[in-house]
Amino acid sequence: MANIKFFNTESFPLEMHKVCTVQQLTIPSVERRVEALYETGFNSYRLTTDDLYLDMLTDSGVNAMSNEQLASMLRADEAYAGSATYKRLSAKIKEIFNKDYFLPVHQGRACENMLARGLVKEGDIIPMNFFFGSTVNQIKQCGGTFRIMLCDEGLKLQSDVPFKGNFDLEKLESFLKAERGRVPFMRIEAGTNLIGGQPIALDNMLAAVRLCKEYGALAVLDASLLQDNLYFIKTREEAYKNASIREITRKLADAVDIIYFSARKLGFARGGGICLNDSEIYERLKAFVARFEGFPTYGGMSVREMEAICVGLDDTMNEDVISQGPQMIAFLCGELQKHGVPVVTPPGGLGCHIDAMKFVPHIPYEQYPAGSLACAIYIASGSRGMERGCIDEPWEDGKPAYGAMELVRLAVPRRVYTVSQMRYMADRVAWLYEHRDLIGGIKFESEQHKNFFDRLTAVNDWPYRLAEQFRRDFGDSV
Ligand code: F0G
Repeated sequence: MANIKFFNTESFPLEMHKVCTVQQLTIPSVERRVEALYETGFNSYRLTTDDLYLDMLTDSGVNAMSNEQLASMLRADEAYAGSATYKRLSAKIKEIFNKDYFLPVHQGRACENMLARGLVKEGDIIPMNFFFGSTVNQIKQCGGTFRIMLCDEGLKLQSDVPFKGNFDLEKLESFLKAERGRVPFMRIEAGTNLIGGQPIALDNMLAAVRLCKEYGALAVLDASLLQDNLYFIKTREEAYKNASIREITRKLADAVDIIYFSARKLGFARGGGICLNDSEIYERLKAFVARFEGFPTYGGMSVREMEAICVGLDDTMNEDVISQGPQMIAFLCGELQKHGVPVVTPPGGLGCHIDAMKFVPHIPYEQYPAGSLACAIYIASGSRGMERGCIDEPWEDGKPAYGAMELVRLAVPRRVYTVSQMRYMADRVAWLYEHRDLIGGIKFESEQHKNFFDRLTAVNDWPYRLAEQFRRDFGDSV
């Protein structure tokens, strides 16, 4: 997927891998899709994969492994303590991130749990370019809170600013000055999940880290979505267009004190880890890993996954590999835009993000526009995305507290889906957009159960009417 030019056609993402193993898929009928929603509770988390064509819920733990990764899993060294696999992964971390210590944990939120327990105390405030649910929960559990430092452009859904995940550096500096002593660390999320997978520029991260050093706070990088962000630095940030992915990674890694990641995203496997140089903090966190995760040379991960991460991290340094996700996402966004479908721009990493407030402006907040749209997309396509809006956020004064965005994310797991599958999704979502007035709201079935994994239902019979329209337009096609 490097810089390919075409003779006779519009540009499209070209796969730089071939398929070795396939998983057969089916598309459930539109009648079955409606039935499945009523059975499972109008919540895409609750659908099961036998009722799905494309699973675009998330990129977490569902990226395709390479033949080299699968091969590496066979040499995994099963040992409770001190395995050769741990040594190999630590050496890979040292090679790529130049950090001396590596603590494996079972996934990203476990890194956040260890870091919060080790670094956050009552009354502390953690600044970050944007919040992520799992991070914030761990910080709050230790008596801390968080402050969003995102640049203004970050919350504009349609924009041509290349790095909407950037810190507002002035805001950050006055915050660090005012709260000196209450800020154990700053968290950088690169890329930024909840604002549409938007990247943050390397120079912006380096400047934010310099401020931290000045005001005595550690700089912690959440590298879960780093692979897409590296691609965007290379292709959108003029100063680094001639730098290699390894050089960019190293410049960033050398600046920050601690790097953690969900290996369900970074590294094409499942697991997570914390990388650092400070021996005192390492010892402190290690005690928590031993207590909550597993012995600190496996930390709750299977050693096979650890071997796969080792190879996956190397793949992450390959521009052809890391361009696949963002190019596929840009392609899907572009196809949708041709039909006027409102998407977050510029396209970011992780997935294509649809602006629900513009798609279904007639659905009020209290009836969850993004959650409703995710259900309607399932009826239209047999495929699921994820509500990225107000269902699971705290509410204040009858409105979602941070509900600046109400999105449906069609995640694009890396190396999994093809260009034709993206075109299918664009076709079905474009059809839905034509019939958006048929989409209605949803509501929780019970006042006691109002979490993102709980049951909801349609406010009226709109799902049946949408399915009838589908039959009229598509005949006996699924
Ligand atoms: N940080 C970021 C930026 C993430 O996107 C995630 C997970 C985590 C941390 C937590 O990692 O799931 O391994 O515990 N994001 C997933 C998603 C859940 O679907 O966006 P985890």
